[in-house]
Parts: sequence; C-alpha cells; structure tokens
Amino acid sequence: MRIIKENLSKFYGGKILDVGTGRGDFIKLLSENLKGYDKIVGIDSHEEILDATREKLHTKNVELIKMDGENMDFEDESFDAVCLSNTLHHLSDKTRVIEEMKRVLKTNGIFIINEMFCDHQNEAQMAHVYVHHIGADIDMITNRMNHNYTYRREEIKEIIRSQGIKILDAFEFKYSDEISTNTDEFEEIYTAVGKRIENIRQSPRYEEIKKRFEDLKEWMNKYGLAGATQLMIIGKK
Ligand SMILES: C[S@@+](CC[C@H](N)C(=O)[O-])C[C@H]1O[C@@H](n2cnc3c(N)ncnc32)[C@H](O)[C@@H]1O
Repeated sequence: MRIIKENLSKFYGGKILDVGTGRGDFIKLLSENLKGYDKIVGIDSHEEILDATREKLHTKNVELIKMDGENMDFEDESFDAVCLSNTLHHLSDKTRVIEEMKRVLKTNGIFIINEMFCDHQNEAQMAHVYVHHIGADIDMITNRMNHNYTYRREEIKEIIRSQGIKILDAFEFKYSDEISTNTDEFEEIYTAVGKRIENIRQSPRYEEIKKRFEDLKEWMNKYGLAGATQLMIIGKK
C-alpha cells in the first residue's frame, strides 16, 4: 500500500465524484491516501448496496446518492476529480458513463481509474480472478447487475485511451500482500458461492459453472487465495 500513498498523496482531491461506489472500499482508500479533500460524492445505481455502505462507511464528508452514471444529475465542470474503481467491467455503456464523467469534471481536473485485471497474476491471485468470474456469471444469470469478466491489464489502458482520456500515470498495487491458506475462510467462501450456484439450478449454464466451482476449490486448496493486483490510472480529459 506504500505505492498508493506515494502516488495519491501528491493530489489534493477537492470535490471528488466516485462512480459505482459499491461497498465504499475505494472511498476509504482515497480518504486515507490523498493529500486531502473537501468532499466525496459516491453514486451507485443500486440503492440496496448504498444502504449497506451507509451502515458501515464512516468516512468524513461523504455523500452517497443513488444515481446512474449514464445520466448524472450534476452541473458541468462541478468536480475536481472523478473516479471509477472496479466498475469499468460492470458498465453496460462505458462510453456514455465516461462522457458523463468528462462533462462533470473541471477542465484541469483528474480522472482516477482503478481496475483489477485478470492476467499477470500469481496462482493464489488467480483464485480471486476465478471466484470473481463465477460471481460475474451468476450476477448476469440472475439479473442482479451487469457484470462482465475483468479485463486484461493492457486492455484496460486501451479502453481508457480509446475513450479520449490522456493517461498521465499508471501504477499497480495490491490491497494486501497476504496469501491466505486459512481453510475456515475458504469454507465460508465455498458455502456462499455454493449457495449462489444452487440458485441458478434452472440455468442451462448450471453444470458448467458448478464444474468450474469444483475446479476452483481444488485450485484454492492447492495454491491459497490472494487479492488480485489492480491497475490505477491517473488521467486528464
Ligand atoms: C464492484 S462494485 C464497485 C466497487 C467500488 N467502486 C470499490 O472499488 O470498492 C461495482 C458497482 O458499480 C455499480 N454500477 C454499475 N453500473 C453503474 C452505473 N451505470 N451507474 C452507477 N453505478 C453503477 C454497481 O451497482 C456496483 O455497486
């Protein structure tokens, strides 16, 4: 996490927008590592996710609003920084959301894009990628939310450039260096994922996903589990 401090502490965030706030992990990371900020506004299209975040996120000067990133209710050029963390692979219309982010960003403001990637990971990190991909498939089958597989590292940069964002800096980081071999933790994950898989029994993809889950358990028991490395990009419009 030292690399995060080194890179983010250069910036005073001012008024920040976080699109696809989810459980608020990225807001916490920003608040702890930027030089400072005035306010963070987090938006998410799912009210029930924001409700859970409101209960557990106690970061100061944060406002959470249910809003679709495709149609934001903010004035042009009203934020000093706009962020998108682990949400790029959730967007049904990336161009529309990124256009909106550009619209609400001040001329000299910064983009902060963070995304875990699916290649260049060690075996324990691949367990995270495989769990994530099974979760993404289940989210799509159950219509819980739009959820694609995570991109390859270079693909993320290509997407960002193709959306007209100028990349000023890019670096990689991990939330933790730990490789877990804690079988109690694994059992909790297996139970939670197993339950979700049973909910898609009627899907034509049930057997295939169940087989991937069995393979994943073998993989994780052999190599352990670690958080995937993420790519953080600092850019300008
Ligand atoms: C993996 S979570 C985000 C995690 C969080 N940003 C972090 O880094 O800790 C992705 C979130 O994006 C939200 N989302 C997807 N499409 C969206 C859109 N068009 N507008 C707003 N939120 C969206 C989903 O509801 C979900 O909560």
